[in-house]
Amino acid sequence: MELVIATTNLHKIREFRDMLKGIKHIDVLSLLNFPQYHPAEEVGKTFQEIAHAKALHAMNALQKWVLSDDSGIVVPSLNGAPGIKSRRYAGEDATDAENRQKLLKELAGTKEHERAAYFECCLVLASPNGFVKSSTGTCEGVILTEERGRNGFGYDPLFVKSEYDKTFAELEESTKNRVSHRRKALEKLLVTLESMS
Ligand code: IMP
Repeated sequence: MELVIATTNLHKIREFRDMLKGIKHIDVLSLLNFPQYHPAEEVGKTFQEIAHAKALHAMNALQKWVLSDDSGIVVPSLNGAPGIKSRRYAGEDATDAENRQKLLKELAGTKEHERAAYFECCLVLASPNGFVKSSTGTCEGVILTEERGRNGFGYDPLFVKSEYDKTFAELEESTKNRVSHRRKALEKLLVTLESMS
């Protein structure tokens, strides 16, 4: 059966495809399969609220099982920034590189403990028959003082997970997908996804 990942972010789509490849009865689609679809304005003050709004909007418009993802990186010493603004931290149309540069600038001269950070991912699974389930995953680590690695996206070149030496952008994609915030959130929905028919 079809499951629409409610995003046009190619990196997220790729990660979900990899993480869901073991569930043979799920045919993974994304919003790229529906070019006529207009996403709603992002509304909400938390990852949870935004993910919920994304899922319900896409599910109502497409009348299919939908999985939405709202995620970002949280730096407690910056009062939670970039947080829900992670994608547009350096401005509305900022690139990932510009967002990383801004984060490096904000953290310039800080001590190691002030560079503690975590990724958070909130997922919402929704179906046209009224089923809605959400889950959250986090991944704790630290922000480096310079970028390392070419894999992944967003803040991956700056983030080293606790007890790891390599950034998310230096790890094999399959390794990131085993330990990431997205993986942890998805794990809590796997039983439901496996029993979907
Ligand atoms: P969203 O599309 O509004 O959920 O924003 C997600 C943004 O958070 C991305 O554009 C990245 O900047 C950041 N982000 C979320 N997940 C990851 C990840 O796994 N690695 C690196 N950056 C991420």
